[in-house]
Amino acid sequence: MAKVHVFDHPLIQHKLTFIRDVNTGTKEFRELVDEVATLMAFEITRELPLQEVDVETPVCMAKSNVLAGKKLGIVPILRAGIGMVDGILKLIPAARVGHVGLFRDPDTLQPHEYFVKLPSDVSERELIVVDPMLATGGTAVEAVNSLKKRGAKHIKFMCLIAAPEGVKVFTDAHPDVDVYIAALDEKLNDHGYIVPGLGDAGDRLFGTK
Ligand code: URA
Repeated sequence: MAKVHVFDHPLIQHKLTFIRDVNTGTKEFRELVDEVATLMAFEITRELPLQEVDVETPVCMAKSNVLAGKKLGIVPILRAGIGMVDGILKLIPAARVGHVGLFRDPDTLQPHEYFVKLPSDVSERELIVVDPMLATGGTAVEAVNSLKKRGAKHIKFMCLIAAPEGVKVFTDAHPDVDVYIAALDEKLNDHGYIVPGLGDAGDRLFGTK
């Protein structure tokens, strides 16, 4: 069964308050999302495996650790997921970045792929799929379906704010994918927005309306 981790680090919670604030403008919103993505990347990488190596310091030979195991990939769900990529790359600069774009059919309300571009060795990588909001869960489920269809095997999902409804839909569909969130909010409203949430993450990141 998927694990759901809520990052309660004080810095993440503090910055999230200003991200939520309707009076926070586009520039500051973008910077704060970037900073929270960095902090979340720090937490999400806590369990990465290490291997011991020899290192020569100016004083003597020593044993020390370097990262081992799978290479990492970041996969933002277009478009709002893009706002979290640079913040993660600050800590994991060698990660490859794939993209998944989905649109919702206005009649059936089902998400459909319109763009998928992934690293060629996607099945070898540990992927972090990012989207600021996990609302109904439909888009996130379909994005992970797209990755699995192309061979991805090791996936984590990271978002800023989730609704309980979305967490259930996602973890039911992908019990092998752990979910990492900064805040678990109350509910979805009738328009599919998370309450209290932060509004439309894409519009607030890119200054569109
Ligand atoms: N997408 C958003 O950007 N905001 C929400 O509240 C829900 C989905």
